[in-house]
Amino acid sequence: MKVKAIRVHKIGGPEVLTWEEVEIGEPSEGEIRIKNKAIGVNYVDIYYRTGLHQEPLPFVPGKEAVGVVSAVGPGVTGIEVGDVVGYADTPMGTYTEEQIIPATLAIPIPPSVDHITAASVLLKGMTTYVLVKQAFKIQAGHTVLVHAAAGGVGSLLCQWANALGATVFGTVSTQEKAIQAAEDGCHHVIIYTEEDFVAQVAEITSRKGVHVVYDAVGKDTFKGSMECLMPRGCMISYGQCSGRPDPVPVSDLASKSLILGRPGMRHYTATRDELLHAAGEVFAGVAAGVLRVRVNHVYPLHEAARAHADLEARRTSGSVVLLPAMPAADS
Ligand SMILES: NC(=O)c1ccc[n+]([C@@H]2O[C@H](COP(=O)([O-])OP(=O)(O)OC[C@H]3O[C@@H](n4cnc5c(N)ncnc54)[C@H](OP(=O)(O)O)[C@@H]3O)[C@@H](O)[C@H]2O)c1
Repeated sequence: MKVKAIRVHKIGGPEVLTWEEVEIGEPSEGEIRIKNKAIGVNYVDIYYRTGLHQEPLPFVPGKEAVGVVSAVGPGVTGIEVGDVVGYADTPMGTYTEEQIIPATLAIPIPPSVDHITAASVLLKGMTTYVLVKQAFKIQAGHTVLVHAAAGGVGSLLCQWANALGATVFGTVSTQEKAIQAAEDGCHHVIIYTEEDFVAQVAEITSRKGVHVVYDAVGKDTFKGSMECLMPRGCMISYGQCSGRPDPVPVSDLASKSLILGRPGMRHYTATRDELLHAAGEVFAGVAAGVLRVRVNHVYPLHEAARAHADLEARRTSGSVVLLPAMPAADS
């Protein structure tokens, strides 16, 4: 079976995302085919396109989508044609009209959550769950610094940390993003393109520092993030939008007895039970109003290059979604 998809034939800028026909075949034993309704764009898609993360060429990018099951392979039980499911992080290749995946990776989407919201919150929400409840367990009274606080993960992270009773510090690049971060529960918003975030955190905490820093900006912020921590604080490095952080000698952690972690969502959702538990926590958060999903940018799938260019240039906030079929314009 042939479908239209975005494919990468060579590493490069957004222009290497080409719209073409690809052969996907039929589901084999244990597999299902999904007709994608909404596809989440994640910063990690840029790492693969630019070669920071490696994938054999050519490849269809994308790590998150929500759609309707269109075919079921032999041996699959508990999933039927017509079911609405999502999948996140693995396997690669969601920038496509239809995709075949192992049935064990399909996550049922609650009927109360629409396709676009689900594709905006699944991967980013499960990542946030790992950050606030697994890699570091936020408790009431903790002080938390979140970089890129208006981003896809950042927005959800501020909301969840606030709901858990933390005092939240957030960094953003613009005034517009600062307003959003404050709405999302940041008690102290720092515009790190204008202010020294290390000095600001020191001043606001009376030089005590924060319990934990969540840093996915990487190279530009990592060193300053370590300076913001209190003794016995925890540095959670979980991404690298500005480039890989410079290496840190382990002995550097000794001056404040710091803990350094580099969690990846997939290691916390590796079993079927863990995956469904993480997704369940996210959808419970959405249902309770703890997670208010910001679908700030929607593009047709064939314009994935424009979505990548905007995300990479820091022009986006909240979640970015691609649609294989755009809704009809109001007449
Ligand atoms: N470890 C995991 O399992 C895992 C899972 C999912 C995502 N992540 C990581 O989480 C981070 C956020 O992902 P996302 O998809 O939600 O993206 P995003 O936060 O919506 O977008 C990236 C943001 O990073 C900030 N940024 C700072 N310096 C930048 C630079 N030099 N270039 C580009 N952006 C820069 C920008 O916010 P400002 O304009 O406010 O600076 C930008 O909007 C990424 O680093 C990603 O790799 C990790």
